[in-house]
Amino acid sequence: MLDKQIEAALNAQIEMEAQSSHFYLAMATWAETNGLNGTSAFLYRHSDEEREHMLKLVHFVNERGGTARIPALSAPAAEFDGLKGIFTKLLEHETKVTASINEVVDLCLSRKDYTTHNFMQWYVAEQIEEEALARTIMDKLAMIGSDSAGLYLFDRDLEMLEPAEDGK
Ligand code: FEO
Repeated sequence: MLDKQIEAALNAQIEMEAQSSHFYLAMATWAETNGLNGTSAFLYRHSDEEREHMLKLVHFVNERGGTARIPALSAPAAEFDGLKGIFTKLLEHETKVTASINEVVDLCLSRKDYTTHNFMQWYVAEQIEEEALARTIMDKLAMIGSDSAGLYLFDRDLEMLEPAEDGK
């Protein structure tokens, strides 16, 4: 049976992953309507992956005898400040997700829930990849600056880039 505090923390994480999916969906649709088709394709995939992260938690909570709660979500921003604006926000958001996952891991240790601790290691590894990828993208954007040919190629390359290895 899942400890009530752990169950609450996992439900909070479900909300965070769902909100991440919603957030990247808003970015994807903005990119799609602003001529950034590669960026848009990347962000749609990223949004789908976040939904999978949420689902994985939903199944875990239910299978461990808890009750997964499907949360209401807040409306994300509809406008973004170009490519740099999008990826700055994405990196900021992922940093918050990492902090939240670390708190769940911490709680698992203090409550001696080694099963959930083990399950959460997948998320710890995933966050390392997601943050590294977001930082690489930011470095590339800094290099390109306002060079329009560079930005065109950057957007085209994102079409092929996977958001992060999902360990699937
Ligand atoms: Fe599932 Fe990007 O955190």
